[in-house]
Amino acid sequence: MPPHFRAPRGTRDLLPGDRPCWDRVERAARVLAGRYDFRRIDTPTFEETALFLRGVGEETDIAQKEIYAVRRHAQGPDADGGAALALRAEGTAPVIRAYLEHGMHTLPQPVKLYYITSIFRYDRPQAGRYREHRQFGAEAIGEVDPALDAEVITLGTEFYAALGIANVKLQLNSVGCSVCRPIYLSELNEYLSDFEKDLCGNCANRFRTNALRILDCKEETCRAVADRAPEITAFLCEACRSHFGAVKAHIRSLEIPFAVNPRLVRGLDYYTKTVFEFWMEGIGAQKAIGGGGRYDGLAERLGGQRAPGIGFGIGLDRVILSMQQQGVSTSDEIRPDVFLISLGERARRSAPGLLRLLRKQGYRAAASYGARSMRSQMRHADRSGAPYGLILGDEEMEKGLIACREMASGQQTEFPLDELVTRFAGLAGRPAARPVS
Ligand code: HAM
Repeated sequence: MPPHFRAPRGTRDLLPGDRPCWDRVERAARVLAGRYDFRRIDTPTFEETALFLRGVGEETDIAQKEIYAVRRHAQGPDADGGAALALRAEGTAPVIRAYLEHGMHTLPQPVKLYYITSIFRYDRPQAGRYREHRQFGAEAIGEVDPALDAEVITLGTEFYAALGIANVKLQLNSVGCSVCRPIYLSELNEYLSDFEKDLCGNCANRFRTNALRILDCKEETCRAVADRAPEITAFLCEACRSHFGAVKAHIRSLEIPFAVNPRLVRGLDYYTKTVFEFWMEGIGAQKAIGGGGRYDGLAERLGGQRAPGIGFGIGLDRVILSMQQQGVSTSDEIRPDVFLISLGERARRSAPGLLRLLRKQGYRAAASYGARSMRSQMRHADRSGAPYGLILGDEEMEKGLIACREMASGQQTEFPLDELVTRFAGLAGRPAARPVS
């Protein structure tokens, strides 16, 4: 009979066997973010829904259909003030909210923050697209220098390189600002009005609300229309053109390959000037393994003072799919260093103390529990993969001894129990320095 409960559609359990690969990816994110002088921020799993709506824009897919509402508790002593709440639908608006709320504009700018966190979006699940996915995000806030755009893009590039992922294609564009984008949009609308009947159902709606998004629609007919559409880069104002030129020059001088993609518009409305994506072919229909851009007006959209910024979100689930596909993922199983076998009542009473002692020394120590036969415990020790077994029997205890068995060869050595720490270290070696704190 199938189990009654299953992980909700579009979500996944990351099992212990998946952990080594995830650990490696998360460690790379932490180490690299640190080298680029980003500090970690953790925002709540849920926020006011309005933060996301205002942040990403009411007409975006996220705002229209992907938000996970959290049940409101509007009455009683724990009332949350009646504000509608939603699970984290993206990482940038919450970070800007925190920047404004904690007065980070008084710190030296830019304030550089990173996060590794779950993002929740209600979308049709498919390969590489989940309803809960994880992102490594970086946000550099309070500075307009194009060198910062290049630095953030470099951090993303180095992240994939550090994990050994090859063939990541950097796509770059500028979506202009509140001065030049409206001019482009009216041009685009005029062009699109001749092709309204050729657009897919989704884009027919977008035509009135969010025409820019038609440019990156995946439908065949829309692509044919988009291919001949005017390009935004031809409409940039002087400030945006010179910013884009400087970003490209920096990236070129850093020898990072990229392609200018005038159709790259991104799915969130807060972007201004620089936008970019990292593409990876062959991990399903979703080829963006990361994306980001500049959002110079976002803080003001959220009701705060001006705080220009640039950042990215890298989809870690897709990063891991890429690693698996390219054969660079880690699959090493975690094994105990030592497995304690205890036989008899007295030995079993001493086992918790011995395990604690071994663990205090830094060993990963496992054991079997309950009164089991020697054979069953040996089998358990074998399956655990521990290279050493410590065997404690009532008889040995009587003599103050413990046996250490090298599991592969079956070779056994006995030594006094009160010399366990030094004698075991002599056989197995000291555990790698793993300070707990
Ligand atoms: P985004 O493009 O919506 O941007 O997401 C960033 C990355 O998260 C995508 O490139 C993709 O790798 C991954 N991703 C998105 N949705 C899913 C999904 N349903 N399943 C699996 N992976 C997914 C943002 O969220 C912006 N906040 C990025 C940003 C930061 N811009 C500036 N700062």
